[in-house]
Amino acid sequence: MEKYYVTTPIYYVNEKPHLGHAYTTIVADVMARFQREKLGSENVFFLTGTDEHGAKIEEAAAAKGSGPKEFVDLVSQQYVKAWQALDITHDFFFRTTDAGHASVVQQSLTKIYERGYIYKGKYKGIYCIGCEKNLTPDEPVNGRCPLHPTKELVEQEEENYFFRLSAFAPQVLERIESGSIAILPEERRNEIAGKIKQGINDISISRAGVKWGIPVPWDTEHTVYVWVDALFNYLSATRIVPNKERFWPADLHLMAKDILWFHALIWEALLLALGEELPRAVYAHGFFSINGQKMSKSTGNIIDPLDMVADYGTDGVRYLLLTSFTFGRDGDFSREKFDEKYNADLANGIGNLISRVGRLCESSGADYSAAFASVIPRRNEAVDAAMASVRPDDAVRLIWTGVQELDRIIAEDKPWELEGEPQVAKLTEYLKRLVGIGYDLKPFLPVTSARILETFGAARITKPAPLYMRRASSPKV
Ligand code: MSP
Repeated sequence: MEKYYVTTPIYYVNEKPHLGHAYTTIVADVMARFQREKLGSENVFFLTGTDEHGAKIEEAAAAKGSGPKEFVDLVSQQYVKAWQALDITHDFFFRTTDAGHASVVQQSLTKIYERGYIYKGKYKGIYCIGCEKNLTPDEPVNGRCPLHPTKELVEQEEENYFFRLSAFAPQVLERIESGSIAILPEERRNEIAGKIKQGINDISISRAGVKWGIPVPWDTEHTVYVWVDALFNYLSATRIVPNKERFWPADLHLMAKDILWFHALIWEALLLALGEELPRAVYAHGFFSINGQKMSKSTGNIIDPLDMVADYGTDGVRYLLLTSFTFGRDGDFSREKFDEKYNADLANGIGNLISRVGRLCESSGADYSAAFASVIPRRNEAVDAAMASVRPDDAVRLIWTGVQELDRIIAEDKPWELEGEPQVAKLTEYLKRLVGIGYDLKPFLPVTSARILETFGAARITKPAPLYMRRASSPKV
Protein backbone atom coordinates (compact mmCIF):
# COMPACT_ATOMS: atom_id res chain seq x y z
CA MET A 1 0.00 0.00 0.00
CA GLU A 2 1.45 3.34 -1.01
CA LYS A 3 2.12 5.63 1.95
CA TYR A 4 3.41 9.14 2.55
CA TYR A 5 5.33 10.35 5.60
CA VAL A 6 6.13 14.05 5.85
CA THR A 7 7.85 15.87 8.71
CA THR A 8 8.71 19.39 9.83
CA PRO A 9 11.69 20.09 12.06
CA ILE A 10 10.80 19.88 15.72
CA TYR A 11 11.09 23.45 16.88
CA TYR A 12 13.05 24.66 19.88
CA VAL A 13 10.85 25.71 22.77
CA ASN A 14 13.17 28.41 24.07
CA GLU A 15 10.69 30.84 22.53
CA LYS A 16 7.17 30.84 21.21
CA PRO A 17 6.61 30.16 17.50
CA HIS A 18 7.17 32.84 14.88
CA LEU A 19 6.31 33.18 11.24
CA GLY A 20 9.40 31.27 10.09
CA HIS A 21 8.23 28.17 11.94
CA ALA A 22 4.74 28.69 10.58
CA TYR A 23 6.08 28.79 7.03
CA THR A 24 7.60 25.30 7.09
CA THR A 25 4.64 23.90 8.97
CA ILE A 26 2.12 25.29 6.48
CA VAL A 27 4.04 23.79 3.58
CA ALA A 28 4.16 20.41 5.34
CA ASP A 29 0.44 20.66 6.00
CA VAL A 30 -0.24 21.38 2.35
CA MET A 31 1.86 18.38 1.31
CA ALA A 32 0.03 16.14 3.80
CA ARG A 33 -3.45 17.32 2.82
CA PHE A 34 -2.60 16.92 -0.83
CA GLN A 35 -1.43 13.35 -0.32
CA ARG A 36 -4.50 12.52 1.78
CA GLU A 37 -6.67 13.43 -1.20
CA LYS A 38 -4.57 11.14 -3.35
CA LEU A 39 -3.81 8.17 -1.09
CA GLY A 40 -6.49 8.37 1.60
CA SER A 41 -5.92 9.74 5.11
CA GLU A 42 -4.97 6.38 6.56
CA ASN A 43 -1.94 6.26 4.25
CA VAL A 44 -0.51 9.61 5.26
CA PHE A 45 1.48 10.43 8.39
CA PHE A 46 2.28 14.07 9.08
CA LEU A 47 4.56 14.76 12.02
CA THR A 48 5.55 17.98 13.72
CA GLY A 49 6.52 18.81 17.28
CA THR A 50 8.98 20.42 19.63
CA ASP A 51 12.63 19.99 20.54
CA GLU A 52 12.78 20.28 24.30
CA HIS A 53 16.17 19.22 25.67
CA GLY A 54 19.65 20.73 25.77
CA ALA A 55 21.58 23.73 27.01
CA LYS A 56 19.57 26.30 25.09
CA ILE A 57 16.29 25.22 26.67
CA GLU A 58 17.92 24.75 30.07
CA GLU A 59 19.14 28.37 29.86
CA ALA A 60 15.80 29.75 28.67
CA ALA A 61 13.97 28.01 31.52
CA ALA A 62 16.45 29.29 34.09
CA ALA A 63 16.08 32.84 32.72
CA LYS A 64 12.35 32.58 33.39
CA GLY A 65 13.06 31.20 36.87
CA SER A 66 11.27 28.01 35.98
CA GLY A 67 12.11 24.31 36.04
CA PRO A 68 12.84 22.94 32.55
CA LYS A 69 9.88 20.55 32.40
CA GLU A 70 7.41 23.14 33.59
CA PHE A 71 8.85 25.57 31.03
CA VAL A 72 8.76 23.22 28.03
CA ASP A 73 5.20 22.17 28.87
CA LEU A 74 4.14 25.78 28.64
CA VAL A 75 5.98 26.77 25.46
CA SER A 76 5.14 23.60 23.53
CA GLN A 77 1.46 24.43 24.13
CA GLN A 78 2.01 27.71 22.31
CA TYR A 79 3.08 25.76 19.25
CA VAL A 80 0.02 23.55 19.51
CA LYS A 81 -2.14 26.66 19.72
CA ALA A 82 -0.51 28.36 16.76
CA TRP A 83 -0.91 25.27 14.59
CA GLN A 84 -4.58 25.07 15.54
CA ALA A 85 -5.06 28.67 14.41
CA LEU A 86 -3.44 27.86 11.07
CA ASP A 87 -5.55 24.74 10.51
CA ILE A 88 -2.50 22.46 10.62
CA THR A 89 -3.55 18.83 10.42
CA HIS A 90 -0.56 16.99 11.87
CA ASP A 91 -1.33 13.41 12.78
CA PHE A 92 0.90 13.61 15.83
CA PHE A 93 2.62 16.35 17.81
CA PHE A 94 5.96 15.00 18.94
CA ARG A 95 7.71 16.21 22.06
CA THR A 96 11.20 14.94 22.84
CA THR A 97 10.17 14.77 26.49
CA ASP A 98 7.38 12.31 25.57
CA ALA A 99 7.48 8.99 27.35
CA GLY A 100 8.96 6.41 25.04
CA HIS A 101 11.26 8.69 23.03
CA ALA A 102 14.17 8.40 25.47
CA SER A 103 14.16 4.63 25.22
CA VAL A 104 14.12 4.68 21.40
CA VAL A 105 17.13 7.02 21.47
CA GLN A 106 18.90 4.93 24.09
CA GLN A 107 18.28 1.62 22.34
CA SER A 108 19.40 3.05 19.01
CA LEU A 109 22.59 4.52 20.42
CA THR A 110 23.38 1.33 22.32
CA LYS A 111 23.12 -0.57 19.06
CA ILE A 112 25.43 1.88 17.28
CA TYR A 113 27.84 1.74 20.25
CA GLU A 114 27.86 -2.06 20.25
CA ARG A 115 28.61 -2.01 16.54
CA GLY A 116 31.75 -0.02 17.33
CA TYR A 117 30.75 3.29 15.78
CA ILE A 118 30.85 5.27 19.01
CA TYR A 119 34.03 5.89 20.99
CA LYS A 120 35.20 8.10 23.83
CA GLY A 121 37.37 11.09 23.00
CA LYS A 122 38.24 14.59 23.99
CA TYR A 123 36.45 17.58 22.54
CA LYS A 124 38.07 21.00 22.51
CA GLY A 125 36.57 23.88 20.67
CA ILE A 126 33.90 26.54 20.53
CA TYR A 127 30.22 25.94 20.90
CA CYS A 128 27.24 28.12 19.96
CA ILE A 129 24.33 27.50 22.32
CA GLY A 130 21.98 29.32 19.92
CA CYS A 131 22.73 26.78 17.18
CA GLU A 132 23.44 23.99 19.64
CA LYS A 133 26.51 23.09 17.64
CA ASN A 134 30.29 23.22 17.57
CA LEU A 135 31.69 25.85 15.30
CA THR A 136 34.78 25.38 13.19
CA PRO A 137 37.54 27.96 13.91
CA ASP A 138 36.75 29.87 10.70
CA GLU A 139 33.01 30.23 11.43
CA PRO A 140 32.86 33.04 14.04
CA VAL A 141 32.59 36.62 12.81
CA ASN A 142 33.98 39.20 15.25
CA GLY A 143 34.25 36.43 17.82
CA ARG A 144 30.54 35.60 17.61
CA CYS A 145 28.37 33.10 15.77
CA PRO A 146 27.05 34.87 12.64
CA LEU A 147 23.56 33.48 13.30
CA HIS A 148 23.55 34.48 16.97
CA PRO A 149 25.59 37.67 17.21
CA THR A 150 24.15 38.60 20.60
CA LYS A 151 25.26 35.35 22.25
CA GLU A 152 28.70 34.64 23.73
CA LEU A 153 30.42 31.59 22.29
CA VAL A 154 31.39 28.93 24.82
CA GLU A 155 34.89 27.51 24.99
CA GLN A 156 34.54 23.82 25.64
CA GLU A 157 36.95 21.12 26.60
CA GLU A 158 35.47 17.88 27.79
CA GLU A 159 35.39 14.13 27.44
CA ASN A 160 32.67 13.21 24.99
CA TYR A 161 31.44 10.23 23.10
CA PHE A 162 32.10 10.54 19.39
CA PHE A 163 30.21 9.05 16.47
CA ARG A 164 32.24 7.81 13.51
CA LEU A 165 30.62 10.15 11.04
CA SER A 166 33.73 9.97 8.86
CA ALA A 167 33.18 6.23 8.32
CA PHE A 168 29.73 6.82 6.83
CA ALA A 169 30.32 10.00 4.85
CA PRO A 170 31.37 8.18 1.64
CA GLN A 171 28.20 6.06 1.68
CA VAL A 172 26.00 9.09 2.29
CA LEU A 173 27.76 10.92 -0.52
CA GLU A 174 27.21 8.01 -2.87
CA ARG A 175 23.47 7.93 -2.04
CA ILE A 176 23.16 11.67 -2.52
CA GLU A 177 25.01 11.69 -5.82
CA SER A 178 23.15 8.68 -7.20
CA GLY A 179 19.88 10.33 -6.22
CA SER A 180 18.78 7.40 -4.07
CA ILE A 181 18.20 10.08 -1.47
CA ALA A 182 17.00 13.33 -2.97
CA ILE A 183 18.43 16.52 -1.51
CA LEU A 184 16.27 19.31 -2.84
CA PRO A 185 16.30 21.81 -4.43
CA GLU A 186 19.05 20.70 -6.79
CA GLU A 187 21.54 23.45 -5.88
CA ARG A 188 21.46 22.28 -2.27
CA ARG A 189 22.42 18.79 -3.33
CA ASN A 190 25.57 20.09 -5.00
CA GLU A 191 26.33 22.24 -2.00
CA ILE A 192 26.05 19.31 0.41
CA ALA A 193 27.99 16.95 -1.85
CA GLY A 194 30.74 19.56 -2.20
CA LYS A 195 30.95 20.05 1.53
CA ILE A 196 31.17 16.30 2.22
CA LYS A 197 33.97 16.01 -0.33
CA GLN A 198 36.01 18.57 1.60
CA GLY A 199 36.40 15.97 4.35
CA ILE A 200 34.37 14.95 7.36
CA ASN A 201 35.44 14.66 10.99
CA ASP A 202 33.76 12.53 13.60
CA ILE A 203 31.28 14.39 15.80
CA SER A 204 30.72 14.49 19.48
CA ILE A 205 27.31 13.09 20.41
CA SER A 206 27.25 13.46 24.18
CA ARG A 207 27.56 16.27 26.70
CA ALA A 208 29.12 15.99 30.13
CA GLY A 209 28.00 19.42 31.26
CA VAL A 210 24.34 19.36 30.23
CA LYS A 211 21.91 17.83 32.69
CA TRP A 212 18.65 18.48 30.78
CA GLY A 213 18.78 15.64 28.31
CA ILE A 214 18.52 11.90 27.75
CA PRO A 215 21.21 10.00 29.70
CA VAL A 216 23.74 8.08 27.61
CA PRO A 217 22.68 4.52 28.50
CA TRP A 218 26.16 3.09 29.12
CA ASP A 219 27.53 6.16 30.90
CA THR A 220 24.85 8.15 32.67
CA GLU A 221 27.26 10.95 33.57
CA HIS A 222 26.65 12.13 29.99
CA THR A 223 23.51 13.24 28.22
CA VAL A 224 22.84 12.69 24.53
CA TYR A 225 23.70 15.69 22.32
CA VAL A 226 20.44 17.50 21.70
CA TRP A 227 20.68 17.28 17.91
CA VAL A 228 21.00 13.50 18.01
CA ASP A 229 18.08 13.30 20.45
CA ALA A 230 16.05 15.55 18.12
CA LEU A 231 16.83 13.81 14.83
CA PHE A 232 15.63 10.53 16.26
CA ASN A 233 12.14 11.99 16.65
CA TYR A 234 11.36 11.08 13.06
CA LEU A 235 12.04 7.41 13.65
CA SER A 236 10.80 7.40 17.23
CA ALA A 237 7.33 8.60 16.20
CA THR A 238 6.85 5.58 13.97
CA ARG A 239 7.54 3.38 16.99
CA ILE A 240 5.72 5.31 19.68
CA VAL A 241 2.53 6.21 17.84
CA PRO A 242 0.43 3.06 17.38
CA ASN A 243 0.33 1.53 13.88
CA LYS A 244 2.83 3.89 12.29
CA GLU A 245 5.74 1.52 11.92
CA ARG A 246 5.06 0.98 8.22
CA PHE A 247 5.58 4.70 7.55
CA TRP A 248 9.36 4.53 7.92
CA PRO A 249 11.34 5.69 5.93
CA ALA A 250 10.13 9.27 5.73
CA ASP A 251 9.14 10.40 2.26
CA LEU A 252 9.95 14.03 2.91
CA HIS A 253 11.83 15.86 5.65
CA LEU A 254 11.07 19.57 5.26
CA MET A 255 13.10 22.40 6.80
CA ALA A 256 14.99 25.58 6.01
CA LYS A 257 18.57 25.59 4.81
CA ASP A 258 19.95 26.39 8.30
CA ILE A 259 19.62 22.78 9.40
CA LEU A 260 20.10 20.88 6.17
CA TRP A 261 23.55 19.64 7.12
CA PHE A 262 22.16 17.79 10.13
CA HIS A 263 19.51 16.13 8.00
CA ALA A 264 21.51 15.50 4.85
CA LEU A 265 24.60 14.03 6.46
CA ILE A 266 24.39 13.38 10.19
CA TRP A 267 20.90 11.89 10.23
CA GLU A 268 21.65 9.70 7.24
CA ALA A 269 24.89 8.47 8.79
CA LEU A 270 23.16 7.61 12.09
CA LEU A 271 20.55 5.64 10.19
CA LEU A 272 23.19 3.78 8.19
CA ALA A 273 25.03 2.92 11.42
CA LEU A 274 21.77 1.59 12.78
CA GLY A 275 20.95 -0.38 9.63
CA GLU A 276 17.72 1.54 9.01
CA GLU A 277 16.41 2.71 5.67
CA LEU A 278 17.16 6.29 4.67
CA PRO A 279 14.55 8.98 4.04
CA ARG A 280 13.56 9.43 0.40
CA ALA A 281 13.84 13.20 0.20
CA VAL A 282 15.10 16.12 2.23
CA TYR A 283 13.94 19.55 1.12
CA ALA A 284 15.56 22.72 2.44
CA HIS A 285 13.69 25.91 1.62
CA GLY A 286 15.11 29.41 1.95
CA PHE A 287 15.04 31.85 4.80
CA PHE A 288 12.82 34.82 4.78
CA SER A 289 13.50 38.18 6.28
CA ILE A 290 11.33 41.17 7.13
CA ASN A 291 12.16 44.47 5.55
CA GLY A 292 15.57 43.01 4.79
CA GLN A 293 16.27 41.85 8.34
CA LYS A 294 16.46 38.37 9.80
CA MET A 295 13.60 37.73 12.19
CA SER A 296 15.11 37.74 15.66
CA LYS A 297 14.36 38.73 19.19
CA SER A 298 17.23 41.20 19.32
CA THR A 299 16.01 43.07 16.22
CA GLY A 300 12.52 43.04 17.72
CA ASN A 301 10.91 42.10 14.41
CA ILE A 302 9.48 38.72 15.33
CA ILE A 303 6.03 38.17 13.90
CA ASP A 304 3.65 36.03 15.89
CA PRO A 305 1.57 33.78 13.60
CA LEU A 306 -1.47 34.43 15.83
CA ASP A 307 -1.27 38.18 15.09
CA MET A 308 -1.12 37.38 11.39
CA VAL A 309 -4.17 35.13 11.67
CA ALA A 310 -6.02 37.94 13.45
CA ASP A 311 -5.22 40.25 10.53
CA TYR A 312 -5.58 38.00 7.49
CA GLY A 313 -7.47 34.92 8.65
CA THR A 314 -6.17 31.36 8.51
CA ASP A 315 -6.32 31.03 4.76
CA GLY A 316 -4.99 34.56 4.32
CA VAL A 317 -1.78 33.66 6.17
CA ARG A 318 -1.51 30.36 4.33
CA TYR A 319 -1.93 32.07 0.97
CA LEU A 320 0.46 34.93 1.67
CA LEU A 321 3.20 32.69 2.98
CA LEU A 322 2.80 30.16 0.20
CA THR A 323 2.86 32.66 -2.64
CA SER A 324 4.98 35.61 -1.56
CA PHE A 325 8.31 33.93 -2.26
CA THR A 326 9.69 31.29 -4.56
CA PHE A 327 9.76 28.11 -2.56
CA GLY A 328 13.37 27.10 -1.96
CA ARG A 329 14.83 30.60 -2.29
CA ASP A 330 15.37 33.30 0.30
CA GLY A 331 12.74 35.99 0.34
CA ASP A 332 11.92 39.26 1.99
CA PHE A 333 8.54 40.61 2.95
CA SER A 334 6.92 43.54 4.63
CA ARG A 335 3.45 43.97 6.06
CA GLU A 336 2.79 46.54 3.32
CA LYS A 337 3.51 43.95 0.64
CA PHE A 338 1.32 41.42 2.44
CA ASP A 339 -1.54 43.93 2.65
CA GLU A 340 -1.29 44.77 -1.02
CA LYS A 341 -1.28 41.13 -2.04
CA TYR A 342 -4.07 40.31 0.36
CA ASN A 343 -6.29 43.02 -1.09
CA ALA A 344 -5.44 42.21 -4.70
CA ASP A 345 -5.60 38.41 -4.65
CA LEU A 346 -7.93 37.63 -1.78
CA ALA A 347 -10.31 40.49 -0.94
CA ASN A 348 -10.67 41.80 -4.52
CA GLY A 349 -9.67 38.50 -6.08
CA ILE A 350 -11.20 35.23 -5.01
CA GLY A 351 -13.30 36.73 -2.20
CA ASN A 352 -14.99 39.10 -4.58
CA LEU A 353 -15.41 36.39 -7.19
CA ILE A 354 -17.24 34.09 -4.76
CA SER A 355 -19.57 36.91 -3.64
CA ARG A 356 -20.25 38.07 -7.15
CA VAL A 357 -21.12 34.68 -8.60
CA GLY A 358 -23.09 33.84 -5.43
CA ARG A 359 -25.11 37.04 -5.69
CA LEU A 360 -25.85 36.55 -9.39
CA CYS A 361 -26.90 32.92 -8.85
CA GLU A 362 -29.15 34.01 -6.00
CA SER A 363 -30.87 36.75 -7.95
CA SER A 364 -31.32 34.57 -11.03
CA GLY A 365 -33.49 32.27 -8.87
CA ALA A 366 -32.48 29.19 -10.92
CA ASP A 367 -31.60 25.75 -9.57
CA TYR A 368 -27.89 24.96 -9.99
CA SER A 369 -27.77 21.67 -8.13
CA ALA A 370 -27.28 19.60 -11.28
CA ALA A 371 -24.44 21.88 -12.40
CA PHE A 372 -22.78 21.51 -8.99
CA ALA A 373 -23.16 17.73 -9.02
CA SER A 374 -21.68 17.52 -12.52
CA VAL A 375 -18.31 18.80 -11.32
CA ILE A 376 -16.26 15.78 -10.45
CA PRO A 377 -13.21 16.46 -8.25
CA ARG A 378 -10.68 15.45 -10.88
CA ARG A 379 -6.95 15.57 -10.36
CA ASN A 380 -5.45 18.67 -11.88
CA GLU A 381 -2.38 17.39 -13.72
CA ALA A 382 -0.44 20.63 -13.65
CA VAL A 383 -1.01 20.98 -9.91
CA ASP A 384 -0.06 17.32 -9.42
CA ALA A 385 3.19 17.86 -11.29
CA ALA A 386 4.05 20.94 -9.23
CA MET A 387 3.36 19.08 -6.01
CA ALA A 388 5.37 16.04 -7.13
CA SER A 389 8.40 18.30 -7.35
CA VAL A 390 7.59 20.00 -4.01
CA ARG A 391 6.47 23.28 -5.59
CA PRO A 392 3.46 24.26 -3.49
CA ASP A 393 3.96 27.90 -4.50
CA ASP A 394 3.64 27.01 -8.19
CA ALA A 395 0.64 24.81 -7.44
CA VAL A 396 -1.25 27.73 -5.86
CA ARG A 397 -0.19 30.08 -8.65
CA LEU A 398 -1.52 27.60 -11.21
CA ILE A 399 -4.88 27.47 -9.46
CA TRP A 400 -4.84 31.26 -9.34
CA THR A 401 -4.57 31.52 -13.10
CA GLY A 402 -8.01 29.86 -13.10
CA VAL A 403 -9.29 32.50 -10.69
CA GLN A 404 -7.97 35.31 -12.87
CA GLU A 405 -9.32 33.73 -16.03
CA LEU A 406 -12.79 33.45 -14.56
CA ASP A 407 -12.62 37.07 -13.43
CA ARG A 408 -11.73 38.11 -16.95
CA ILE A 409 -14.50 36.02 -18.53
CA ILE A 410 -17.09 37.56 -16.21
CA ALA A 411 -15.86 41.08 -16.92
CA GLU A 412 -16.17 40.40 -20.66
CA ASP A 413 -19.53 38.61 -20.49
CA LYS A 414 -21.20 41.18 -18.22
CA PRO A 415 -23.74 38.58 -17.09
CA TRP A 416 -25.62 41.21 -15.06
CA GLU A 417 -26.80 42.64 -18.37
CA LEU A 418 -28.28 39.30 -19.42
CA GLU A 419 -31.59 37.77 -18.41
CA GLY A 420 -33.36 34.42 -18.35
CA GLU A 421 -31.84 31.34 -19.97
CA PRO A 422 -28.73 33.05 -21.47
CA GLN A 423 -27.84 34.40 -18.05
CA VAL A 424 -28.40 31.05 -16.32
CA ALA A 425 -26.21 29.36 -18.94
CA LYS A 426 -23.37 31.77 -18.21
CA LEU A 427 -23.79 31.42 -14.44
CA THR A 428 -23.77 27.65 -14.76
CA GLU A 429 -20.43 27.87 -16.55
CA TYR A 430 -18.96 30.15 -13.86
CA LEU A 431 -20.27 27.97 -11.09
CA LYS A 432 -18.66 24.89 -12.59
CA ARG A 433 -15.33 26.62 -12.94
CA LEU A 434 -15.50 28.01 -9.44
CA VAL A 435 -16.43 24.65 -7.93
CA GLY A 436 -13.45 23.12 -9.78
CA ILE A 437 -11.25 25.78 -8.19
CA GLY A 438 -12.86 24.94 -4.84
CA TYR A 439 -11.81 21.31 -5.17
CA ASP A 440 -8.30 22.23 -6.29
CA LEU A 441 -7.85 24.61 -3.36
CA LYS A 442 -8.69 22.05 -0.72
CA PRO A 443 -5.15 21.25 0.46
CA PHE A 444 -3.97 24.86 0.23
CA LEU A 445 -6.80 27.05 1.48
CA PRO A 446 -9.16 24.73 3.33
CA VAL A 447 -11.51 27.45 4.60
CA THR A 448 -11.93 29.04 1.19
CA SER A 449 -12.39 25.67 -0.44
CA ALA A 450 -15.11 24.70 2.05
CA ARG A 451 -16.80 28.07 1.57
CA ILE A 452 -16.97 27.60 -2.22
CA LEU A 453 -18.29 24.06 -1.95
CA GLU A 454 -20.89 24.98 0.69
CA THR A 455 -22.09 28.09 -1.12
CA PHE A 456 -22.50 26.53 -4.52
CA GLY A 457 -23.50 23.08 -3.31
CA ALA A 458 -26.45 24.48 -1.32
CA ALA A 459 -29.95 23.59 -2.49
CA ARG A 460 -30.65 27.31 -2.85
CA ILE A 461 -27.61 29.48 -3.49
CA THR A 462 -27.44 32.68 -1.47
CA LYS A 463 -24.72 35.29 -1.57
CA PRO A 464 -22.20 34.29 1.12
CA ALA A 465 -20.85 36.66 3.77
CA PRO A 466 -17.51 38.12 2.62
CA LEU A 467 -14.61 35.81 3.30
CA TYR A 468 -11.83 38.37 3.08
CA MET A 469 -12.41 41.94 4.29
CA ARG A 470 -10.37 44.56 2.45
CA ARG A 471 -7.57 45.90 4.60
CA ALA A 472 -6.35 49.38 5.13
CA SER A 473 -2.54 49.30 5.28
CA SER A 474 -0.99 47.65 8.35
CA PRO A 475 1.13 49.58 10.80
CA LYS A 476 4.81 49.21 9.92
CA VAL A 477 6.67 46.36 11.61
N1 MSP B 1 15.28 22.13 16.95
C1 MSP B 1 15.96 22.29 15.72
C2 MSP B 1 15.43 21.32 14.69
C3 MSP B 1 15.52 19.87 15.04
S1 MSP B 1 14.83 18.87 13.83
C4 MSP B 1 15.33 17.32 14.20
C5 MSP B 1 15.76 23.72 15.19
N2 MSP B 1 14.72 24.38 15.67
S2 MSP B 1 14.32 25.89 15.27
O1 MSP B 1 13.26 26.24 16.18
O2 MSP B 1 15.46 26.73 15.27
O3 MSP B 1 13.69 25.79 13.87
C6 MSP B 1 14.43 25.94 12.68
C7 MSP B 1 13.45 25.86 11.53
O4 MSP B 1 12.43 26.89 11.65
C8 MSP B 1 14.04 26.13 10.16
O5 MSP B 1 14.68 25.03 9.61
C9 MSP B 1 12.80 26.50 9.40
O6 MSP B 1 12.04 25.35 9.17
C10 MSP B 1 12.06 27.37 10.39
N3 MSP B 1 12.47 28.78 10.30
C11 MSP B 1 12.90 29.54 11.34
N4 MSP B 1 13.11 30.82 10.92
C12 MSP B 1 12.84 30.90 9.61
C13 MSP B 1 12.89 31.94 8.66
N5 MSP B 1 13.22 33.19 8.99
N6 MSP B 1 12.57 31.65 7.38
C14 MSP B 1 12.20 30.37 7.02
N7 MSP B 1 12.15 29.38 7.90
C15 MSP B 1 12.48 29.60 9.18
O7 MSP B 1 16.53 24.14 14.36
